Amino acid sequence: MKKLVVIGYGGMGGWHVRAAQKSDVLTLGGVYDIKEERNRAANEAGVYAYDCFESVLRDKTVDLVTVAVPNDAHEELAIRSMRAGKHVICEKPVTLTSESLRRMIAVSKETGKLLTVHQNRRWDVDYLAMQKIADSGQIGKVLNIESRIHGSRGIPSDWRGLREYGGGMLYDWGIHLIDQVLLVMRGKKVVKLFCDFDHITNKEVDDGFKLTMWFDDGASAYVEVGTYNFIAMPRFYMRCEHGSALIPDWTKKTQIVRCKAWHESDVLPVQTAAGLTKTMAPRDEITTDTYELDRPASDVHDFYRNFCAAIDGKEEQCVTHEQMLRNLLLIEEAFRSVQFGQVVAPEVPL
Ligand SMILES: NC(=O)c1ccc[n+]([C@@H]2O[C@H](COP(=O)([O-])OP(=O)(O)OC[C@H]3O[C@@H](n4cnc5c(N)ncnc54)[C@H](O)[C@@H]3O)[C@@H](O)[C@H]2O)c1
Repeated sequence: MKKLVVIGYGGMGGWHVRAAQKSDVLTLGGVYDIKEERNRAANEAGVYAYDCFESVLRDKTVDLVTVAVPNDAHEELAIRSMRAGKHVICEKPVTLTSESLRRMIAVSKETGKLLTVHQNRRWDVDYLAMQKIADSGQIGKVLNIESRIHGSRGIPSDWRGLREYGGGMLYDWGIHLIDQVLLVMRGKKVVKLFCDFDHITNKEVDDGFKLTMWFDDGASAYVEVGTYNFIAMPRFYMRCEHGSALIPDWTKKTQIVRCKAWHESDVLPVQTAAGLTKTMAPRDEITTDTYELDRPASDVHDFYRNFCAAIDGKEEQCVTHEQMLRNLLLIEEAFRSVQFGQVVAPEVPL
């Protein structure tokens, strides 16, 4: 068992505490929050609260820390923790720039302490279903994927709405959705991209965005986060060489239509108000198979199990430094695209 201390006892810090309390690989050493009232709240919940960050660093019994504070503060806390001999998990985004991440990776290499980021949405079953379809090849090679998250409450009114803390939806949800689609598109490099921001409820940071990425084999990925969508569009839509897949929302099964015969002997036209169409008429069951895919099994605590096994040298950490860096470099390119209002091409395909 590894002893974990959670830095930051807010929304996500509480999640990590509860995860550690029922873990088969962790014991909870306690928490530390910069706000006294949060440390008191921890005590009231029966959780030990360290009196300062230095006390956590001095505690030789602590194996790892999870940094769950606003995004701009991850780097300093992670570096100081690694230098004090702790392995580090940062909440996402690991930090705000690739330059900052390179400094963190350098300290990880220098100290021999592991550093990773909590990409917990790799265990979301909707994403896992898309990954399964892509990997199995059941409807052929992926041509393009669309991944959307739509809410209707604007960006949260806390630090997420402020630039200095690393707010904005691209850092908040974007990092998850980019990470997921890059895994579905495994092996392909992004050659160009375009990003556009929403500023509906917040002028300072993006409260939504639309990002298109084009890959070196001609495939593409579209990622959209909206916080002012009173009707949500489907969570995932994927077109492949031999069919299409759709997940209406993250509580639903995947719908698949597989094309078993391209040519049709006869097409029944659809009557629309202003005329007939055969081109846009739906396919029938003679040329297509329609079926549902069960929701894959998933246990998000496998993230911690993997990290603990990586500390013991038994597994590779599943969220690698290369993946962390690639995600941040893509986010930087997305900011560049927004700044110039243009499609941008990374100097080296990502
Ligand atoms: N992976 C996920 O699903 C997920 C979900 C939500 C948030 N997050 C991430 O978790 C992190 C925290 O977000 P949150 O929603 O818990 O925020 P929050 O505001 O609810 O909590 C942050 C806590 O950190 C404390 N804090 C701030 N600076 C500190 C410091 N220097 N040392 C110690 N404590 C400090 C604050 O007092 C606060 O209690 C962010 O990076 C966010 O992006 C991840």
